[in-house]
Formats: sequence, C-alpha cells, structure tokens
Amino acid sequence: MTKDALFYLPVKIGNIELKNPFIVASGPTAKRIDQLELAEKCGWGAASIKQTFNPVPYINYQPRYRWLKKEKLHVFTAEYRLNMEQGQRLVEEARKKCQEMVIIANYSYVQGDLEGWQDAARRFDAAGAQILELNFCCPNMSFNVDISERSSKESRPSSGASMGQDEDSVRLVLEKTREVTKLPIIAKITPEGGRIADVSRVAFESGAAAVCSVANRLGIPSIDIRNYKKSIYNLQGENTMACLSGPWIKPLALRDVFEIRRLVGPGPHINGTGGVASMEDAVEMMMCGADSIGVCTHTMIAGFGFLEKWMKSLRDYMKTMGFQTARDMRDLLLTEIKPASELTVWAGYAQVDPEKCSACGLCIEIGHCNAIVLTDASAGIDPDLCQGCSTCIDICPKKAIRMVEERK
Ligand SMILES: Cc1cc2nc3c(=O)[nH]c(=O)nc-3n(C[C@H](O)[C@H](O)[C@H](O)COP(=O)(O)O)c2cc1C
Ligand code: SF4
Ligand code: SF4
Repeated sequence: MTKDALFYLPVKIGNIELKNPFIVASGPTAKRIDQLELAEKCGWGAASIKQTFNPVPYINYQPRYRWLKKEKLHVFTAEYRLNMEQGQRLVEEARKKCQEMVIIANYSYVQGDLEGWQDAARRFDAAGAQILELNFCCPNMSFNVDISERSSKESRPSSGASMGQDEDSVRLVLEKTREVTKLPIIAKITPEGGRIADVSRVAFESGAAAVCSVANRLGIPSIDIRNYKKSIYNLQGENTMACLSGPWIKPLALRDVFEIRRLVGPGPHINGTGGVASMEDAVEMMMCGADSIGVCTHTMIAGFGFLEKWMKSLRDYMKTMGFQTARDMRDLLLTEIKPASELTVWAGYAQVDPEKCSACGLCIEIGHCNAIVLTDASAGIDPDLCQGCSTCIDICPKKAIRMVEERK
C-alpha cells in the first residue's frame, strides 16, 4: 500500500473532507506553524489550533505541566493562549504551508454580548480556516476562575465550560455565528455538569456540523501530604484545580461520546477526544459513536510521528475484521453496552492451580472474600463460599487462579 493510500481513510465534517479521522486536538501542539507543518508531514487529517481569545486571553501564563506517568494523567493550570491576531496569523500561515491537513480555528469570546463571537468567526473565515471550533469546554478559564469569584461575589460573563453546560448560551452563540459564516462549525462541549448529550443536541439543532467531546476535566491532582503547601508543578507557586487529560479520562470520554450518539442518532458528526493514546483507543471511540478522533496529550508526550504506526495497525485490524471504512467501525458498541437491568450473570467459582501458586498469600487479604484459605503449599478456594467476583484473578501475581463457569 502506498503512503497516500495508507493515510486515506476519509471522514467529513460538514462539506469538508479530512483525509483520515485523526485530528491534532487544540492545545500546545497546535500553537506554532512548525508544529502544524510537522503534523501535516506525519499525515494527520486535521489540526485544531491552540485556543484563541477574542481579542486577548484574560488569563495567560507560560505553560506549567505535569505528566504523571504512573497515573497516566496529564495535569496543568498555567497555560499560554493566543490572541486574535496570533490566531489569525497562524491560520493564514498554516493554509499556505499545509496542502492536505484541514485547519480548524478553536476560539472563545468572554464578554456578555455576541459581537465578539461573530467578529472572530468573520476573521478566521477570512484567514482561511476551513472549520471553526467554538470552545464551550475549557474548565480552566471558567470554573477554575469561578471558584474564587463565587466567594468574592464578583461576576464575570460565563465562558468555556461554564457556558457549555447551558443550552441557551450554546444555541445563541451558534445561531449568531451561523449568520456570519458558511464554514462548518464544531461545538466543543464540556462534560462538566453531566449534560453533554442534551447540550450537543441543541448544538446540532442550532447549526453545528459536529460536536467535540471531551475537553479536559477539572480536578485536584495528588499532592504531597507532608508538604502540602508545595506545588506539584515545577516553577509554579500554588497548587490549583487542574485540567486533567490523557488515558485516565478515556473511560469518561467514551461514555460522553456514547451518550451523545445515543441521543442524537446516526446522522451528526461526533469528534471523540479524550485519552486516546493508541490505535485501539481510537477504535473504541469510533465504536462508541465517534466519526473523528482528537488527540492532544499523546501528541505532547510523543509528537506526531506515531500516526503512521497507528494507521498501519488500523489497516491490519480493519482487514482482519472485514471493515472497509471508518464508518464501518462506528456505533458498534451502541447496542452492545447494556443497561445494568439487562445483565446476564452466570454462576461459577474460582479455582487455584496448586502447581502455579507460590503461596504468597495476597489473595487471602481480599476484604470482601471469605472463600480462600492458605496452607503452606498453596491457596485453596471453597466453591460454596466463592461468589465468583474474580477479584482474586486480578490480584494473583502468578496467574494461578481461573474461573469455573456453571452456565445453565
Ligand atoms: C495542555 C493542554 C492545553 C489544551 N488547550 C486546549 C485549547 O486551547 N482548546 C481546546 O479546545 N482544548 C484544549 N485542550 C484540551 C484538548 O484539546 C483535549 O480535548 C483534552 O486534553 C482531552 O484529550 P487528550 O486526553 O487527548 O489530551 C488542552 C489540553 C491540554 C492537555
Ligand atoms: S472469585 Fe471473588 S469470591 Fe471467589 S474466591 Fe475469588 S475473590 Fe473470593
Ligand atoms: S495470590 Fe496467587 S500465588 Fe498468591 S497465594 Fe493466592 S493463588 Fe497463590
């Protein structure tokens, strides 16, 4: 297969074709032209540029990040955003330099009126953006500020994630933006508040060509409890609520994509983002309802070049499974993920293989289990006391335990 053919697995957002579903999600790997050029060279279908604030970001710092490898979690609060001029210039340059990769403008406006949203749309349209991505998702410039403002009784028009929970705000901004541009619009909606599917439906009703789920989640990263005043970040004084991303958030992101797809049906385009760090993660996203796949954290950690490996393994996987297009993989889990009321649970019990057991005793510590006893030689399980939960299988370092199924 030629390189061009390898990377060609097209999906569409509105009338714009991406040569494959992989999008560099808005963030620090899409803020300079050299990054965008490299992403294009590495075969990415699209890139969404770093969030631009119209006219200027109201909070801006040099970035301070932590990649907590063990937790598979990326955290940050301090981050650098683009002002309107920088964003426009980046889009203009990217359109000149990138022949195939689709350029998406990701932006926000924070005043109470709607003029600034329209102004940004006009300016990015004029700069050559092929798709607009309205940022209704950033928890850092919204909740992470609201926390202190709530207590100090100051008020500031809502933005980012605070706005993205509210159907009326999302509807208004989209309708007003639609008035001034024909470009396809992605609404990047927050999962905060648990209403992402409802707000997404409103976004589609209001003219969005796609929704993107999810952005960062907001949380408090672990601190050193013996030195709790010390920031976990280097070169940063305070601990703060942090934007969480990376593999840790993937199960939550899958759920959000799944819920949106269930609610909006098969037609609209959903960009699934959040914790994708392998070809398999991307396929899971598609199976839960995603048409395209956003990747941010993994590009921060590993650059852009891994896409070729992903595409090769995706091709092999598709061949084995008999899938021809990206669409063939979409929604496959929609009917497979059952509600709790419809589970089938078979009777069964765990059994220890005394040949493999090293009598380490780990399994007898399991707090909810009274079925395991330990002799000098090995562990043993009483099938009458065993409830079949299978925790011991996951605890055992010697893989000495298996389940015996008693399916009727
Ligand atoms: C450091 C950092 C900066 C980000 N900046 C933006 C941004 O400017 N605009 C945006 O819409 N999302 C931004 N995001 C969110 C990502 O685009 C993405 O939605 C989120 O991180 C989840 O995907 P991931 O696990 O692949 O990183 C940022 C994420 C990180 C980690
Ligand atoms: S399956 Fe669950 S209940 Fe049975 S022995 Fe293992 S941990 Fe105990
Ligand atoms: S955890 Fe595994 S190896 Fe250790 S005692 Fe239990 S069965 Fe044996």
